Amino acid sequence: MERVLVTGGAGFIGSNFCNLNKEKFSVVALDNLFLGDPANLDEDVEFIEGSANNKEDLDKTGDVNYVVHLAGTSSAPMFMDDGFVDGYVNSIQSFATVLDWARKKGAKKVLYASTSSLYGNNPLPLLETQSVTPINHYAVTKRAYEHMARCYNKVYPNMDIIGFRFMSVYGPNEEAKGKFANLISQFCWDYARERVPVIYGDGEQTRDFTNVRDVVQGLTKAIELDKQLGAEVFNIGTGRATSVNEIAEALEKAFDNGIKAKHIENPVKEDYVEGQYADISKIKEVLGYEPTVKLEDGIKEQVENLRMERIRGTSSDELR
Ligand SMILES: NC(=O)c1ccc[n+]([C@@H]2O[C@H](COP(=O)([O-])OP(=O)(O)OC[C@H]3O[C@@H](n4cnc5c(N)ncnc54)[C@H](O)[C@@H]3O)[C@@H](O)[C@H]2O)c1
Repeated sequence: MERVLVTGGAGFIGSNFCNLNKEKFSVVALDNLFLGDPANLDEDVEFIEGSANNKEDLDKTGDVNYVVHLAGTSSAPMFMDDGFVDGYVNSIQSFATVLDWARKKGAKKVLYASTSSLYGNNPLPLLETQSVTPINHYAVTKRAYEHMARCYNKVYPNMDIIGFRFMSVYGPNEEAKGKFANLISQFCWDYARERVPVIYGDGEQTRDFTNVRDVVQGLTKAIELDKQLGAEVFNIGTGRATSVNEIAEALEKAFDNGIKAKHIENPVKEDYVEGQYADISKIKEVLGYEPTVKLEDGIKEQVENLRMERIRGTSSDELR
């Protein structure tokens, strides 16, 4: 069985990857628990506490065939104020360390998380060939990953280094992210606790909300592809734009507890992203990816999970 190391494996996307793929691959999750929680992982998933910035910690994971690098400082606000230096060091150092470590281990591919944030307010649909100017430090690190991947692959072409510009990912296991979680999770927690969700501006801004299962699907297809790709970068999304108002309406219907979202003047005055949806033709064509989870179903599932957690008494009341 092929062995796959998932850095950031106890985090939101990483834990979903491990849990969904534990039968297909021998997966090992490495996480320094900056934000992740080992409780996100199924009991039979191997977990090692350690940092992707550290070769000795990576060595603890053994010989691997593939690395999915999801560790890092995972959202723009984490780079504010005191987070600035650590955010950069953590993200860039972890990727450089993982690349070199994986190559020396003889890994076939490193997959890594880039982000749709680097498109800013580019024309829609967002396309991999558009020129991009990252609008915040977080997106700068992801753009740096893409350049690092290209240069590294030029020198060491035997190991593919494939990037994924994730759109707005939602799904289970986001609780540890708290205030950094996706809007769908944040709103779910608000409705469930009978707190009023806050919508910035008129709520007509759109995002390409992508269920984490589809993100895992894309990553898995890239591992399984029996063809060298070099240092390609793929959008991964649904190709559909959904407004924040539509999300609020869907959740109001699902919770049906009389709570209604309120609109406030948008406090983000600069570079606020007004619209987002991906052109996904490249990933469809090259990897055979196809989004499978309809937003209505993904939301229903998320609400149901929350209900079950409350019944079992496992949901935290101090999320934000
Ligand atoms: N969630 C999204 O919508 C989205 C969108 C675009 C890109 N991404 C990227 O995808 C990746 C995963 O995102 P996520 O939403 O699962 O975030 P997350 O914060 O839940 O996961 C990141 C994990 O990495 C761990 N980590 C951080 N630094 C580490 C280090 N040096 N060594 C080991 N572990 C470390 C954290 O503890 C956390 O568990 C991130 O790189 C993020 O930037 C996410």
